[in-house]
Amino acid sequence: MKVGDSLLSIRQTMTTGSATAATAPVSAPTATLGGTTKNSINSSSGSTGGVEVAFKLADIGEGIAEVELMKWFVKEGDTIKSFDRICEVQSDKATVEITSRYDGVVGKLLHDEGQIVKVGGTLLNIVQTGGGGGGGSPTAAPVAAPAAAAHSSNSVNRSAAPVDTSANMKVFATPAVRKMAKENNVQLHLIKGTGPKGRIVKEDVIGFIQRGGPVAEASSSSSSSSSMAAPSSSSVVSPSFGSLTKADQVVPIRGVQRLMVKSMTAANTVPHLTYSEEVVFDKMKTMRNELNISLGKTQGLKLSYMPMMLKATSLALSQYPMLNATVNEDCTEVTYHGAHNIGVAMDTPKGLVVPVVRNVEQKSIVELAKELVHLQELGAAGKLTAEHLSGGTFSLSNIGSIGGTYVVPVLVVPQVVIGAMGRLQTLPRYVNSAGSAASMQEIDNGDCKVAPQTIMAVSWSADHRVVDGASVARFSNLWKSFLESPHTMMSTMR
Ligand code: COA
Repeated sequence: MKVGDSLLSIRQTMTTGSATAATAPVSAPTATLGGTTKNSINSSSGSTGGVEVAFKLADIGEGIAEVELMKWFVKEGDTIKSFDRICEVQSDKATVEITSRYDGVVGKLLHDEGQIVKVGGTLLNIVQTGGGGGGGSPTAAPVAAPAAAAHSSNSVNRSAAPVDTSANMKVFATPAVRKMAKENNVQLHLIKGTGPKGRIVKEDVIGFIQRGGPVAEASSSSSSSSSMAAPSSSSVVSPSFGSLTKADQVVPIRGVQRLMVKSMTAANTVPHLTYSEEVVFDKMKTMRNELNISLGKTQGLKLSYMPMMLKATSLALSQYPMLNATVNEDCTEVTYHGAHNIGVAMDTPKGLVVPVVRNVEQKSIVELAKELVHLQELGAAGKLTAEHLSGGTFSLSNIGSIGGTYVVPVLVVPQVVIGAMGRLQTLPRYVNSAGSAASMQEIDNGDCKVAPQTIMAVSWSADHRVVDGASVARFSNLWKSFLESPHTMMSTMR
């Protein structure tokens, strides 16, 4: 079986607001995750007459060697049809759903949620129905047997193997959850599972630990005792519970965080400079407030400052195209990009991601605002795909909405410049009679006053192998002038 021999199709997951909506199946080989191998004829389900096939994780391109199995949508014994969802996996670039192209019955699920699956590894077995090789049983025939087997007391359900505890209670939990419980000295039989059929999931263990141990959980099974009753000595989980110090936790670095490890480590190998400046935002603030009144009425839209900052960046890049660039790995070639594809650092529940707003040079501020909101929604839902995250030529990181005055941004290699904005603050500054920043001479002559101004600091980090500080300074001056004088910006826009 060749990597890429796919008997599964992938649907890149996209959200449209409510339930997960799948787009059309992706047929390109690079986006194909599943493959199958015919293992044996009816090896595990004697009466089914079906062919058992091994679904393998096929090459997904982009150098991805493994994925994290996020969620099974099926369980052993389930009857599935073509295009039924099988599972969701996440690489460090995207989350994708794997769907079946075949009718059949789910055999063994060979991995637990949370486990890493290598490219080429088998995800699960499926007893294919309606296909040749198994004696040509009718479609309905194979369905019952595996389902019954899955419920047989002898069957091994990997994801929910019963375990006898000291209290002789059967506990259902995955190996990953058991490991987590063991590492934290938690006795699983004290926890009430909220997963399917009462299975204990990771969140149950975390919640149990966060609530401080066995007291609440142990008593919850006893309706007569108070939830605050002292635990019996046998139910004391760990000396650390009940004290101020919590137990250490070892947490694997997965998904988006793995991407961060790779990209930040790569960035740290690049000699860079960082240049900082203050931008006066008073006029932009006024313009934004006015725009928001009209846009709110006409389009129900509210602008943040990011669309303006994106546009100012693109306008400034038009005059300093050498900063809209990427450099090859051994730093022998720089590519100056025509399109302004600007990555926006985004804080999401899964961590830092940098989705790309493409062709900023072609878009209006309102279009940029809408696109940004869309990307934020996808980011919040964990639905950004490799396509959203690739192809950036420049990056911006606005941490100011969270806090911070100055931020030193880290390059998104192979890009050569990134800007980071701090928090808008009202600060006292010397201004001249025109309301602009007073010159040193005006200050010396006393032709100025101290007035409150809305100030935001920006810092630009640049790959100093290919970009010099003077270019960054000139670019920054221009960027600042656009944001300090929205009229200039408007007159420069097409
Ligand atoms: N200073 C103060 N307030 C700011 C601000 C700044 N620099 N930038 C934005 N805000 C305000 C916005 O105006 C908005 O307030 P309002 O609704 O009262 O007008 C509020 O903060 C929230 O804005 P947000 O929803 O974050 O939108 P945004 O378009 O300004 O920013 C993102 C979008 C994606 C950049 C932002 O949500 C985000 O994730 N920032 C963190 C980026 C990050 O983690 N960088 C660090 C990388 S190491």
